[in-house]
Amino acid sequence: MAEVRLEATQGDITRQRVDAIVNAANSSLLGGGGVDGAIHRAAGRELLEACRQLGGCPTGEARATAGFRLPARWVIHTVGPVWSGGKRGEPELLASCYRRSLEVADELGIRSVAFPAISTGAYGFPGQLAAEIAVNTVRSANTEVELVRLVAFDAETFVLYRKALDNRS
Ligand code: APR
Repeated sequence: MAEVRLEATQGDITRQRVDAIVNAANSSLLGGGGVDGAIHRAAGRELLEACRQLGGCPTGEARATAGFRLPARWVIHTVGPVWSGGKRGEPELLASCYRRSLEVADELGIRSVAFPAISTGAYGFPGQLAAEIAVNTVRSANTEVELVRLVAFDAETFVLYRKALDNRS
């Protein structure tokens, strides 16, 4: 198993030229604000139709659809935990989002995946802990995916990703 190439960038996930981008969705998979809204706007109406067929997604799980008008061929929808203090399994559920998204990628022969900072917006998950969970989970994943790109929308998140990547834990 080759080691995953893990990188961080600051930008808009809807513009990433990778096989799959990950959406930080809610359990209905019927769209929302934040990155969910941006991905649906960029992919077009067909994405919502495809999501309707999936019948929702539990927290920590992942489901794939086509990318439609996005540069990425696939969208992997995952549902992050809402932060409620850290004592209700939120860290483990966030790790599951990264792990299950990579497993779904492997099932589809996907080789490059871009992730947003899942749960760190509306769901209130602390940014530094989320960045550490993202990096550690991807690094320890047993996956055929060759490139994982952590896409920060804002500068603060980008700094947190850089710090987490520099800590060779
Ligand atoms: N590209 C990359 N990252 C983005 C983009 C974008 N175009 N737009 C927003 N983000 C970032 C936010 O800045 C944040 O760092 O995505 C991260 C996750 O924030 P949210 O989109 O609020 O997602 P989350 O915290 O997981 O909350 C999910 O919000 O939009 C609804 O339907 C969604 O109910 C669900 C909830």
